[in-house]
Amino acid sequence: MDIRIFSTANELSAFTAQEIIELVRARKSSNRTCVLGLAAGATPVAVYQNLVRLHRQGQSFANVVTFNLDEFYPMPPNSPHSFSRFMRENFLNLVDLDPANIHEFDGSLRNHGVAEFCERYGRAIAGAGGIDLQLLGIGRNGHIGFNEPGAARTSRTRLVNLDTVTRRDARDSFGADEVPHQAITMGIGSILSARRILLLAVGRHKTAILAKALDGAVTDKVPASFLQKHPCASAYLDRTAAERLARVNQSL
Ligand code: GLP
Repeated sequence: MDIRIFSTANELSAFTAQEIIELVRARKSSNRTCVLGLAAGATPVAVYQNLVRLHRQGQSFANVVTFNLDEFYPMPPNSPHSFSRFMRENFLNLVDLDPANIHEFDGSLRNHGVAEFCERYGRAIAGAGGIDLQLLGIGRNGHIGFNEPGAARTSRTRLVNLDTVTRRDARDSFGADEVPHQAITMGIGSILSARRILLLAVGRHKTAILAKALDGAVTDKVPASFLQKHPCASAYLDRTAAERLARVNQSL
């Protein structure tokens, strides 16, 4: 897996945004849509800020189709904890995306409707031609999306139970509100079907899990390790996050 280390999180974010824009432009020049898989969370916020800035300087997103990666369940769409709301407020509503091209999870569905919703979500990705570029963060337990340790390599979009590390880490942002016990997520199989994958990670709290995910064995105990087998996946890290990587630490 290709690993690129940046001196600062700002450089990482600007570089990532530029790569996305170049893809959007390349697809536009051949009259095609550009299908982006989008992650919520603290890590990609500055990427979205860069994309919005580029939009204000004239960059159009009219040919872009988006699919959100995950959502807590249950979760009202306008809750401050909703990833759908996060994506709308940080990116989707701030550029000229066609609302019909935005795909998000409905965390307010009744339980019996979720499986069918997930089926349709998978079909919508296929109908859009598959994901051109998938943005990912990583959880401290190695999750990608909400694919927790133990998730199968072939898993598709579905409802999952959250593990204790994920719920504990989410508590900071939930404050007094209870963190849901479940989530809806694109599966590992769905993620690995993307033509290009960018895993972004910054900061000391990601150092230990990145050493396992990028240098360790490919195992369902560390779901992000499955990315090692993808033909076109890169990890973009800051120096601190990359500190324990055997393959790169000589150059740090
Ligand atoms: C969250 C989400 C992921 C996210 C990851 C890292 O719980 N399920 O989609 O990428 O954990 O989040 P952060 O970027 O805030 O560290």
